[in-house]
Amino acid sequence: MKDFKNKVMLLTGAAHGFGREIAKEAARREMKLALLDIDEPALQETSKMVADLGAEVLTVPADVSDEDAVNAAIDKVLAKFGGVDVLINDAGIALPGRMWELPTRDWEWILHVNTLSQVYTMKRIIPVMLEQKTHAAILNVASIAGLLDTPGMPAYHASKFASVGLTEATAYDLQRIGADIQMHVMCPGFVQTDLYHTEQHRPTRYADATDPYYSSEAFKKGQQFAQYVITNGTPIDTIADTVFKALEDNTFYILTHPEYNPLISDRVNRIVNNGAPDVHVMDGIM
Ligand SMILES: NC(=O)c1ccc[n+]([C@@H]2O[C@H](COP(=O)([O-])OP(=O)(O)OC[C@H]3O[C@@H](n4cnc5c(N)ncnc54)[C@H](O)[C@@H]3O)[C@@H](O)[C@H]2O)c1
Repeated sequence: MKDFKNKVMLLTGAAHGFGREIAKEAARREMKLALLDIDEPALQETSKMVADLGAEVLTVPADVSDEDAVNAAIDKVLAKFGGVDVLINDAGIALPGRMWELPTRDWEWILHVNTLSQVYTMKRIIPVMLEQKTHAAILNVASIAGLLDTPGMPAYHASKFASVGLTEATAYDLQRIGADIQMHVMCPGFVQTDLYHTEQHRPTRYADATDPYYSSEAFKKGQQFAQYVITNGTPIDTIADTVFKALEDNTFYILTHPEYNPLISDRVNRIVNNGAPDVHVMDGIM
């Protein structure tokens, strides 16, 4: 996709971090914007920023982990703009914690936000894009954690490996029917955003203050781990340019941290050579 002017972008996770940066760059490129997020005050701030840049914007507060809420939000987007040219599924959360300690409600929460929300939006928007018969793009934000395995955050890995696989498999099916939709999956390393504030975005149906896990040492350590890795990530300033360059060049895998590429190769080599995860290898890395 080379020309973005007057095209409609539907963007989840627009209130903070990557989403806000992408929204601002889309506004500079004169796109029309439909912005979704669960954090309404921060979403309104993003909307004001893009409106100040001259963009036509629809602000849709919505919890993407709730399929009914996503469908209601998309109804509003289609009523306002009549279609969607670029769908970016960016909303996400990070929940560190050992597999057997993380409450099941947290497993459900992260899989709904990081993975199923991408299913909900694509199920609605792909038929719209096919009907439009104009060139379109879908970009799912996964993570390097969808290509590499590391200790300390199995739920995040599960959600992001699923996002990568979902995007790859959907790309095949779209190619097979000759759809004019370019697909992308973004797999960044650690970047300085608000991602370690995940607890502020916990919907009430995933909350249970009586569960002792949330006052445990394991929970506190997980929070500290998330804050450490995110605040020590790379600056966010190049992310929006990277996204738009990938959209322009039709790059399927969007890798932002080339220093991780050898680890991706190591993992694939380990799989085909009958290897297994070895925590001693990870000790120097994570
Ligand atoms: N920052 C990193 O190091 C990093 C690395 C790899 C991948 N990612 C991914 O990038 C994406 C954006 O994350 P970020 O780093 O900008 O973090 P962020 O916290 O700054 O932004 C995430 C956004 O998602 C929104 N969100 C959370 N739950 C939601 C829900 N239920 N419904 C609607 N919106 C919801 C938040 O309000 C927030 O605006 C995520 O998918 C994340 O997993 C981030």
